[in-house]
Parts: sequence; structure tokens; C-alpha cells
Amino acid sequence: MTKKEFIAASEKVFMNTYKRVPVVFVEGKNCTLVDSEGNKYLDMVGGLAASGMGHSPDFLVDAIQSQAAKLMHVTNYYWNEPQYDLAMLLVDNSFADKVFFCNSGAEANEAAIKLARKYGYKHFGESRYEIITVSESFHGRTLGTLSATANENYREGYKPLPGGFKQVPFNDAEALEKSITENTCAIMFEPLQGEGGLTPASTQFVEKVKELAEKHQLLIILDEIQCGFGRTGTMFAYEQFDLKPDIMSLAKTMAGGFPIGAIVATDKVAEAWKPGDHGTTFGGNPLACAAGVATVKEIIKQNIPEKAQKDGEYLKEKLDGLVEKYPFVNKTKGKGFMIGLELDFPGNEVVERAFEKGLIINCTSGNILRFVPPMVITREEIDHFIQILDSIFSDMK
Ligand SMILES: Cc1ncc(COP(=O)(O)O)c(C=O)c1O
Repeated sequence: MTKKEFIAASEKVFMNTYKRVPVVFVEGKNCTLVDSEGNKYLDMVGGLAASGMGHSPDFLVDAIQSQAAKLMHVTNYYWNEPQYDLAMLLVDNSFADKVFFCNSGAEANEAAIKLARKYGYKHFGESRYEIITVSESFHGRTLGTLSATANENYREGYKPLPGGFKQVPFNDAEALEKSITENTCAIMFEPLQGEGGLTPASTQFVEKVKELAEKHQLLIILDEIQCGFGRTGTMFAYEQFDLKPDIMSLAKTMAGGFPIGAIVATDKVAEAWKPGDHGTTFGGNPLACAAGVATVKEIIKQNIPEKAQKDGEYLKEKLDGLVEKYPFVNKTKGKGFMIGLELDFPGNEVVERAFEKGLIINCTSGNILRFVPPMVITREEIDHFIQILDSIFSDMK
């Protein structure tokens, strides 16, 4: 089959949920993807921030191959070693005492929502169920996480959605304070928003979250699915605030591109669950966890948080140069290896032109080019990326 025939055949068999670029990737190494016709691309999307340590790094291939040959799956009726090892890595490197594994980001947020509700129910009774989330947030595509997600585009046609959520404008401390009622059990947000356009939480907002949480005995849920595991310059983004969450959701980079999700929480909150309160068949299976152990160990060994901070600063300086050079490039957003460029116009055309020049980028919130590359990207690759963007902008003048 030619590429065209393959795509036509695929269009016939797949539900029409994705607007896909007409390319078939067959191989990847570090920051490079190779398509079915042998063309190479510099990847600044990194599997949507999931291939955090690059495509098929040797350490991950080895870990998956050897675990696959030993034991791929047992259910959570039994203990398994890779699950323990990954849990210990998460506990030792975060605020948390306890871990629950699942298979994706949305599933992690479902678990976070359920744990917060159960905690509210146990400590304060049935009326304590409401979770405050923020504008431009993205927490996933299940019905529960869609209710938590503010973006109306994702919700249209799926109503009625589960109740028990209230949205306030992001970083509006006053609105947050006003939204609290005797029904509120938790406040949930991303420390640095991903899909919503790379907007960070402000210190003032975080201070208000802490004050209200303490005053009203509310839980703080942080969604670090996209910004966790070093991407913003620290192992977890919350470390850059004077903030200790009660629950944190994780996924994406945790197993380097192998599907996995988790929530971590303090003992005090986690004890709201007893056997039977929540569960999953595949969550925490030995294969996914072995991939997670290998990935998190490598993130620590290579000091990826420091690399993201330093090379992220280098990347930002270069992007700032484009902001100065082109009047239609408004500003950079985000930090580390979770960074974007706000344009005066929709970013689709830039994404398409970049693709033609062998560069994979993505656009979010209409006019924000988002760059979440594998964090092993080299400075030479950053320079090459900037050169391509520069040439595209220069043609658009
Ligand atoms: C912050 C955040 N939360 C949740 C999700 C949902 O994760 P998943 O697509 O693995 O369900 C995403 C995915 O992009 C995300 O960026």
C-alpha cells in the first residue's frame, strides 16, 4: 500500500475523533521520528509530553523487553515487585505517602476526584462533594474529568455531565474565595496549564488556595500529568511554590511513553479508601511499572529537572529572539520544556509549514504554538528548531 492508500484505508476503519496530519510514523529515536517514506522529523511534540526521555531510549527498551519476558500482567489481587519499586520512587521523590496506579491521565484524575469525594464524605458527610476547578483547565475526556475540564468545546453534546464541579477564572483569587460553600471538598488545578495555553498558576492564587484550604479544611488536588517529572525545571511543578498538595495526578512521561497513570496522596487523605472503593484491572501491572521504574530512575540519574531548567532557559531566550524579530509573535509562555509562543493569528498554518520542513510542532488554544519535546533534546536540536521556525516566520512577513 502507498501512504495515501494506507491513510484512506485507515480513515474507513477508525472513528473520526482525531484531526490527523497525513503522515505514518514507523520509527523513533531520541528527538527524531521517521515516517513510512524514510523522511526524518525533529519532534517538538514528544507524544504530547509523554515521550519525555525520547523515543525508544535503550534503557527503556531493555526494561520493557526483560520484564515482558518475565511477567507482563497479574491483577491487583496480588502483589508485584515493579509496582512496589515505582511506588517507592514516587513516594521518595514527592510529598506523598501512598500511591494508586491506573493507565492514563484521565483515569488518574477520575481517581483523584473519587478519593477527594470519599474523603469529604467520610469526614464531613454527604453534602461535602463539590470540587472547584479553573478556566482553561484540561483534566481528561471521561465524563467525570470533562465535568472538571473548563473548555466548553470538549463538553458540547455530552450533557448532562456529572455534577459537583464549579469553575472559577484561573488565577482569580477573589472569585475562588467567593466560590467556596459548605459543599466544597477540594480545589483542583494544573500548576502550569498545558492544553489551556501554558499559563502558570500565580503565586497570589496559590497563596489563596492554601489559605482557603486551611480555613475550610479543603483538599488541594494538583494535576501534574503534563507538567510533572522534571518538565518545568523541578521534579514536580508544585516544588516551585510554597505548596504541599493533598493529592497529585500523574501520567504521560512517567513510563516514557508506555501507558500508565497514578495518583499519589498523603496518608491522611489516602486512608479514606478501603478495599473495594476503587480499582482497575491493568493499573500497576508489572510491565507498565517496569517501564516506569526505568524511566523515573533515568530522569533522576540524568538530572532531567536541572536540564529542563537550564536548556529550557536557553530555548526561551531563543524564542524571545523571535518575539523581538516578528511583530506577529506576541510572547513566550510557560517554562522549562513546556513552553509556547503566542501568535497574533491561528497557529495551524505554522504547524503545517513546519511539518513540510521536517519539524513536528503543535498548536493549542487556537493561537499558541506548544513545544513539549523529549527532555533529552540537545542544544544543537534546539538551534535547528529555532532556525526552522525563523525561516517559516520570515516567509510569513
Ligand atoms: C493536565 C492534563 N490532565 C489530564 C490529561 C488527560 O490525560 P490522558 O490523555 O492520558 O487521559 C492531560 C492530557 O493531555 C493533561 O494534559
